[in-house]
Amino acid sequence: MSAQRIAVIPGDGIGVEVVDAARSVLDAVCARHGISLEYRMFDWSCQRFEREGTMMPDDGIETLREFDAIFLGAVGWAGVPDHVSLWGLLIPIRRAFRQYVNLRPIKVFTGVRSPLRDAEDVDFVVVRENVEGEYSEVGGRLNRGFPDELAVQESVFTRVGVSRIADFAFDLAMSRRKYVTSATKSNGIVHTLPFWDEVVAERAAHYPEVRLDSEHIDALAAKFVLQPQRFDVVVASNLFGDILSDLAAAVAGSIGIAPSANLDPTKQNPSMFEPVHGSAPDIAGRGIANPIGAVWSAALMLDHLGHPGAAEDVMTAVTATLADPDTRTADLGGTASTAEVTAALIAALP
Ligand code: NAI
Ligand code: MG
Repeated sequence: MSAQRIAVIPGDGIGVEVVDAARSVLDAVCARHGISLEYRMFDWSCQRFEREGTMMPDDGIETLREFDAIFLGAVGWAGVPDHVSLWGLLIPIRRAFRQYVNLRPIKVFTGVRSPLRDAEDVDFVVVRENVEGEYSEVGGRLNRGFPDELAVQESVFTRVGVSRIADFAFDLAMSRRKYVTSATKSNGIVHTLPFWDEVVAERAAHYPEVRLDSEHIDALAAKFVLQPQRFDVVVASNLFGDILSDLAAAVAGSIGIAPSANLDPTKQNPSMFEPVHGSAPDIAGRGIANPIGAVWSAALMLDHLGHPGAAEDVMTAVTATLADPDTRTADLGGTASTAEVTAALIAALP
């Protein structure tokens, strides 16, 4: 197989540090598995914004289109409003490349303390719809500045959009514990969410082995805290999935280990892999960032690129490294540096 091409966007702050660490782990695991990845670095970031006035060049999306995957650190820095860094880079990439799945695996590892009392065996995945739903640009504001000022924003749910995210969730459940929970609120939101429920149930009929529960979002949020062990795959609309995935990451103990993937499962466009955390200006430059969120994201990338064995090896190393108190970073109560954790990960590869 010829080399698969990866566009690397380290971004700002600890984004640069954790991408560096993930690259080292990728190099080690790929050498062992005979996988050939070719990297190109892009300096798209808030620093670039301050220099040139945009997060990425005008032809940035066209440049990325040629790649097999995009690996991103984090963007965001003082002086550049967060909506600029988000809408100038991340959102255009997700939308242009039809990355309609946002995948957020949640796991409580041995050695990581969850804020919950009983959190052993928590292992589930939040599948968030990533391109439509509540985050539409349809709407507007009228009568700005007058007492009768108003704002309207429409949610957009399509049969195609709901079907494909449901199918992704059911397919994923087939490779796991065969249990899907669908987040809804069809008792209160009377048009879009009954439609979501209907289409999800239609798709469920194609997966007779998978059990499906629909749960209202308010009750579901409570169950994430009270009984997180019961979940396997949770499928949700864009807004519900956004909130649930952060709640779930908190249950898992540290934002420093949480990974994510923005996927175009059709593979017609590059998918993007990134840790959940941001650029962490409060600890940037000190060499203490936890690299595991980025490393786990790299494992998701290996899996997506067709290398499940290498992905599994990376996760074996992650599990071993977290289990050892000497190889935990400060966010997990340890004293190890980013470089020490990275070396431990490489040493722990099977
Ligand atoms: P953040 O995730 O950067 O940091 C939140 C807290 O968690 C901080 O105390 C930080 O030190 C800690 N933390 C985060 N990642 C860590 C790691 N790997 N190891 C150890 N500790 C870690 O979120 P915050 O502070 O709200 O945002 C900072 C900047 O990052 C903002 O400009 C924001 O817009 C941006 N951001 C970017 C994201 C992205 O690129 N996808 C996602 C979230 C925020
Ligand atoms: Mg979020």
